[in-house]
Parts: sequence; C-alpha cells; structure tokens
Amino acid sequence: MNQDIQDDNILYHVKLNRKMLAGADTAVLPGDPGRVEKTARMIDPDAVFLVSNREYTSWLAELGGKKVLVCSTGIGGPSVSICIEELASLGVKNYFRIGTTGAIQDRINAADLVITTASVRLDGASTHYAPLEYPAVADFDLTTHLVQAAENLKIPFHKGITASSDTFYPGQERYDTFSGYVPRKFQGSLKEWQKLNVLNYEMESATLLTLASVFGLKAAMVASVIAIRGRDETPDDSILPLAEERLASCIREALSLLLTGEGYS
Ligand code: URA
Repeated sequence: MNQDIQDDNILYHVKLNRKMLAGADTAVLPGDPGRVEKTARMIDPDAVFLVSNREYTSWLAELGGKKVLVCSTGIGGPSVSICIEELASLGVKNYFRIGTTGAIQDRINAADLVITTASVRLDGASTHYAPLEYPAVADFDLTTHLVQAAENLKIPFHKGITASSDTFYPGQERYDTFSGYVPRKFQGSLKEWQKLNVLNYEMESATLLTLASVFGLKAAMVASVIAIRGRDETPDDSILPLAEERLASCIREALSLLLTGEGYS
C-alpha cells in the first residue's frame, strides 16, 4: 500500500476509497461502531452513511463546508493501527479519537472529560512502528482545540497523561475477572501510575498517537469518564448518555474551531 493509490481503490479493512471520502482530511474516531451515526449526526444532521465492515463503520459529515469522516476503530491497538494505516493512505491528516475511560485520580469525576497530552505505551501495536523510547504524544494544535472546546462549553475537563493498555483487565489492574489473577508486572501498577500523575486508563491512544507522529500526521484524544477506579472496577453504564453527549458536543466544537476558526455554539 502506498500514498499514490487510485481514487477508486477500496482499502481492504475500512472498505473506503478516496472518492467516498470526498476530500475529507479530518477524521473523528470513536471505538464503538454503534456510536458513529450519533456522532456524525451531531456534527452534521445531514451526515450520510458510507460503509460498514467488521469494526469499521463510516459516516461522512460536513462542517463549515469541509467534509469530516467519522469512522469507528474497534477496541485496542491492533484495530486502531489498521484504521490509521488505511485512512492515512486515503489522505486523512487529522485524527480526533473520542472514547470512554477509567479515571485513576481522585479529583476526576464521572462524565468529566480527559484530554490526553501523551500516553504511556502499554500497548503492543505501537512497538511495531517505533521503539518504546519513542513518545506517544498528542498533536499540540488539535489538543489545543479540544481544550478550547471544553472551555467554551464549560464542560469539566482534565488534561494530562493517559495510560493506554492493550487489555481492559490485567493491564488496567482489574481483579474481578475469570482467574482473579493479575500478573506480577501489573500488580500495584494502578497505584504507581497514580503516583506518577497519570490521569486515566484507556486502550487506543498509545497506538494512535505513536502512528500519527511516525507518519507525520496529527492526532489528539478526548475521553469521558465512565469508571472511577478508586471506587469500582466496573464502568457505570448509567453515566453513558451524559458522557456521550459531552464527547459529541466537545468534538463538534473542536472541529468547528479547526475547520472554520470559530466555535460552533
Ligand atoms: N475504557 C477503558 O479502557 N477502561 C475503563 O475503565 C473504561 C473505559
């Protein structure tokens, strides 16, 4: 695969080609395919469905006269890496991941937003692209738009470092599991990340941020808190509607700042 692919060349996993993207060079990436339509319609009530294959569901929206792709990545680094490889080949340059997260600092509340400035690389996929010494760092400009968006909308937010793990259970030190066992490597890791001022756990940003930097592209990450790890290992689904609404309005505002230079609201 290369960057000189033909306009009608459909890429293998995302099942998209350049024609379908209609010039979109910005993508919003939820993990969950079920969140794509809602997010796209929040950005643009006239957004259109493009295609769905495996975990990759795509809709095309328009904001300020510019096309924006909304494409789900599925869960975890490997599926994110496929998504970024293929979208990059189709000309997408700016990536905003929106997701859910577990907070590990006591000052963070349910449904607050966490804007990632950099990620601890607890994934495997990013190591296939760059050695662990290479930082998983968010793009400054896109991240500034996310921060400005949260401020404009008066949504409580925190910005800082995220621990991005390949696994939801042992890598995030959960014991309420089938075996109940967490390998030694991860025992005590939650406390350690807390002490090192890491804000939260999620599962995709390490791969996304590393690949974007390696490719010379831009990526940023915002997540809404659905688990308070000091209190409970299990996410609280009753928070999801508010969490999703805050994410969607934050991303619409950030896109508006990026694409039109002005806020949406
Ligand atoms: N996503 C995660 O990866 N961890 C959580 O605790 C919640 C959402």
